[in-house]
Amino acid sequence: MALRRGAALMRVKVYHPSPCSPSRGIIPADATAGFPNMPPFPAFSITALPRIVFGDGRIADLPREVAALGRTALLVTGAHSFRAGPYRAPLMAGFAEAGVAVETWEVAGEPTPDLVDDAVGRFRSAGIQAVVGIGGGSAIDAAKAVAGLLPTGASIMDFLEGVGRGKTYAGPALPLVAVPTTAGTGAEATKNAVLSRTGANGFKKSFRDDRLMPRLALIDPALLATCPRPVMAANAMDALTQLIESYVSIRANPMTDALALAGIEAVRDGLWPAIEGAGAAAREGRARLAFAALMSGICLAQTGLGAVHGMAAPLGAAFGVPHGAACGTLLAETTLANIEALMERDPLGPALPRYGRIGGLLAGQARVCGGDGLIVLSDVLDDWAERLDMPRLSVFGMTEADIPAVVAASGGNSMKTNPLVLTAEELTDILKRRL
Ligand SMILES: [Fe+2]
Repeated sequence: MALRRGAALMRVKVYHPSPCSPSRGIIPADATAGFPNMPPFPAFSITALPRIVFGDGRIADLPREVAALGRTALLVTGAHSFRAGPYRAPLMAGFAEAGVAVETWEVAGEPTPDLVDDAVGRFRSAGIQAVVGIGGGSAIDAAKAVAGLLPTGASIMDFLEGVGRGKTYAGPALPLVAVPTTAGTGAEATKNAVLSRTGANGFKKSFRDDRLMPRLALIDPALLATCPRPVMAANAMDALTQLIESYVSIRANPMTDALALAGIEAVRDGLWPAIEGAGAAAREGRARLAFAALMSGICLAQTGLGAVHGMAAPLGAAFGVPHGAACGTLLAETTLANIEALMERDPLGPALPRYGRIGGLLAGQARVCGGDGLIVLSDVLDDWAERLDMPRLSVFGMTEADIPAVVAASGGNSMKTNPLVLTAEELTDILKRRL
């Protein structure tokens, strides 16, 4: 990869000699002259966001928040961690005190359409007025899907993108409170629920609608304290991937740019303290990762994602590659492939300097960007994937013979907002390098 990176540096410096250096006069000496070299400030719109409550200990607010939404709540959790953890008993006592009757549904692994339809049938007549999802992306997405279907009793297959019956979702959805216990998917701030079916005809598709956005995202970074290192690492790589893909998305806008850069900075500062630190350093690291994941969810709901997520979906469906691991293992190679393709096919477009800026941000040096930023970015992503033990795809039983099928199935929505269209050959190369 070093040689490829060297070539990248040489070529990109021709086009972007040092775009962040003040000496080049990006800010004109005479401000009244305007900004002749800058593109016009774009128009944009932002869809609804959840109300956000963030901070250590905020889980204690949950019963009161839920009571404001309804008197009977469905609590959706992961299969084991919540039941065994220290938060269940005080929460249940809190719900009772707040006058909220609670039904519970535990979701093992990534939710399937059958699982969601079963839950809708089971709780349809329970008088549920609000849904609470506590857990990782799977539990929150399951909660999101059920909240969207309980009022009508419709099947998830009516609305699932690409594989469903193509009906238009008309709501209504029950109010949803999302409480993440991992820092990665940002599902607490997205309007889609990802449903999976594994195996030969497997898929990983979204039920998506503005009405599925959680009413409240309650983020308590202290909930991450018991998250095992491999899960924390994979989730952090998912959040970082979502932030990078949002920032270079063809639908990026000035507001998502600001949030994505803040999120990337938070990953830079929080990742290693959260993963390897202890005490106050670890606590600060966890808060930063939780913030980064939240920013990544907000951004991706507006901008879409990119080629890493395009490939992660079939890898999860066909080989059971966990989402965070799929993102973590593909991020460095896909970023480099995007950069190389951009230099060939869109050297003066907006995406290359954006990648350079991310590199500078990860290096903690505002003056590192352009070609230097690309080198730093590539190095950092490689280094992190290695240090975080991101698995090779062959670990999941994938071989070179499987690559064409994965490439063929990678054209989902995420691929459409990649900064440029990667060819089947380029996607094949990425997957080969990560076998
Ligand atoms: Fe993701």
